[in-house]
Amino acid sequence: MSEKILVTSALPYANGPIHLGHLAGAYLPADIFVRYHRLNGDDVVYICGSDEHGVPIMLRARKEGVSPQEVVDRYHTVIKKSFEQFGMSFDYYGRTSSPVHYETSQDIFRMLATKDEFILKKEKQLFDPEAGIFLADRFVRGICPKCGYEDAYGDQCEKCGTSLSPSDLIEPRSAITDAVPVMKETTHWYLPLEKYQPELEQWIAGHSDWKSNVLGQIKSWFTDGLRDRAVTRDLPWGVPVPEDVARKAGVDAKGKVLYVWFDAPIGYISATREWAREKGDPELWKKYWQQHDTRLIHFIGKDNIVFHCIIFPAVLKADGRFVLPENVPANEFLNLEGDKLSTSRDYAVWLHEYLEKFEPDSLRYTLASIMPESKDADFSWKDFQARHNNELADILGNFINRTLTFVHKYFDGKTPAASVFTAEDEQLIARIKEAPQKLGALIDRHQYKNYVREAMDLARAANKYFNDRAPWKTRKEDPEACATTLNICLQTTYALSVLLDPVLPFTGRKIRARLNMDNTIHWNSAADMPLKAGHVIDKPEIIFRKIEDSAIEPEIERLQKNKQGNTVTSSAAPVKDEITIDDFQKLDLRTARVLKAERVPKTDKLVRLEVEVGEEIRTIVSGIAHHYDVGELIGRTIIIIANLKPVKLRGIESRGMLLTAEHDGTLSLLTTMGAMPSGSSIA
Ligand code: MF3
Ligand code: ZN
Repeated sequence: MSEKILVTSALPYANGPIHLGHLAGAYLPADIFVRYHRLNGDDVVYICGSDEHGVPIMLRARKEGVSPQEVVDRYHTVIKKSFEQFGMSFDYYGRTSSPVHYETSQDIFRMLATKDEFILKKEKQLFDPEAGIFLADRFVRGICPKCGYEDAYGDQCEKCGTSLSPSDLIEPRSAITDAVPVMKETTHWYLPLEKYQPELEQWIAGHSDWKSNVLGQIKSWFTDGLRDRAVTRDLPWGVPVPEDVARKAGVDAKGKVLYVWFDAPIGYISATREWAREKGDPELWKKYWQQHDTRLIHFIGKDNIVFHCIIFPAVLKADGRFVLPENVPANEFLNLEGDKLSTSRDYAVWLHEYLEKFEPDSLRYTLASIMPESKDADFSWKDFQARHNNELADILGNFINRTLTFVHKYFDGKTPAASVFTAEDEQLIARIKEAPQKLGALIDRHQYKNYVREAMDLARAANKYFNDRAPWKTRKEDPEACATTLNICLQTTYALSVLLDPVLPFTGRKIRARLNMDNTIHWNSAADMPLKAGHVIDKPEIIFRKIEDSAIEPEIERLQKNKQGNTVTSSAAPVKDEITIDDFQKLDLRTARVLKAERVPKTDKLVRLEVEVGEEIRTIVSGIAHHYDVGELIGRTIIIIANLKPVKLRGIESRGMLLTAEHDGTLSLLTTMGAMPSGSSIA
């Protein structure tokens, strides 16, 4: 039966172009899923758009000396175009600066206020008198009261890891204007997540089929205990807090906007409304957002999990008019040539630049093959080249090319008739027959890597079949067998064009054009063997040209340079005063094995670890929650200072300190290179 499916991909921030990390996380898997379901005859609407609010966009505008609107206009255009060229098949690509979006997000905010869902809180916050804006935590810097580090953030000292609030800082300054901020009273609307938690937990409990990386993160948020979140900000850029709501609450709405993470996901709804309006059926969006037989699926990267699995559903529930997501298949991160992507350092492969040099399908194929479904993955240009050359060109391209060439050479470009099937014929036919069901199920379970592998295996099997049947021999010895072989090869070519269409839409279309087959296809028609005897085939044409070393070398070099350039230009901390070996030997450094790790409730960064040091079990509290998921710490052998005087952090006695390497806000735990028993001493 046809299903009604509403699919969304995270709205990218319009403050920079799209890179491969974005694609592998929230876009390509969604596009494959959507294309498959459309071919299956399902009623699918696929929505995306630009996320055009938030402080980073304002900062970028300020830096460039232009308005935020100019920044988002520019990147909205760049992003939209590169998505189109990459084959993203959105039904609608909207933007959160649109009037419909303002109206929709204000309407939902108003609904929550009317239902008395919000808590109003009055509080003192740092205010930048020069810029005339309140400063969010990250935009205040000052001296750390604990260690004296001069460039601590308003929420954390990156030197000693201490959690701070902006008022703890000594000599605070605005990170925007360098002005000395003043304390000023302000009022904000809070979403009472603490109150919602039991209901949300119950809802999540009904979704035990979600991906384990997603459920893991959600559980850890619940364990920490949800905290109420402010959903308004004092900023000059964003969706204004509705005047009527503010008036009723006795608050001056001037200068207040909705928090970007409140309005952005509502962008999915606004964009669907705009889509419906453009279709000439303005109420049509309700069929997807307000009827409960809709399967709503959000595709996102792992950094967006809390917003899509907890906060946005809480808003939708509190409002009461909308469906909730059926699934949120978040992906992990994509690294690049073994290192973390960094947009600020231009250590990334940008989509619009890629598309100037290479084909979209080669990238779609590579990214789908390495998709970070359950753990982080790595993109390298060499691997990209190898997949294109050895798989797309040598397996898929080669099979199609030899089939079409043969048909043109010996069958006058017409589909030969099949007659009696041998066991080998039957075998390949059986594979084609079962393929739609098998591959479709993999896509439905969000196993994109397996789907692509299975599809390419079919092309492999087809090549082997061609070799084994040796039509160049049977042509003279057994012309009927030869005709049958080529008939089956053509049917297989057609099947591959359909089965690979979700991941290789440009190629699928090209292949069908060669086969003179209609481009309006159905997923199950892959198994139909629809080419009639006598059906005329076009001349073959090379589908995939090999990618030479010379094409990827400049790409590798550019990344290498950015990597090195960054090590030179970014600052390492100055070396401390000299010490003697005796000083050093006062430290008792030991290996320790992590037995348990959990977030410290109601804190942002603290993790409570239980570690084994030889015979002894110790508790250590460390501010590393921003850098590691607790799950990935367990079982690691780390290095600790074992004879440091114990300290109490949030009431927990911490006995020892972990060693970490730190650079420009990136932090890495020190571990041993080989396996070592815990308690081993280090010198
Ligand atoms: N702009 C956000 C990011 O790039 C994603 C927003 S998703 C939405 O991380 F749901 F809020 F739209
Ligand atoms: Zn500090």
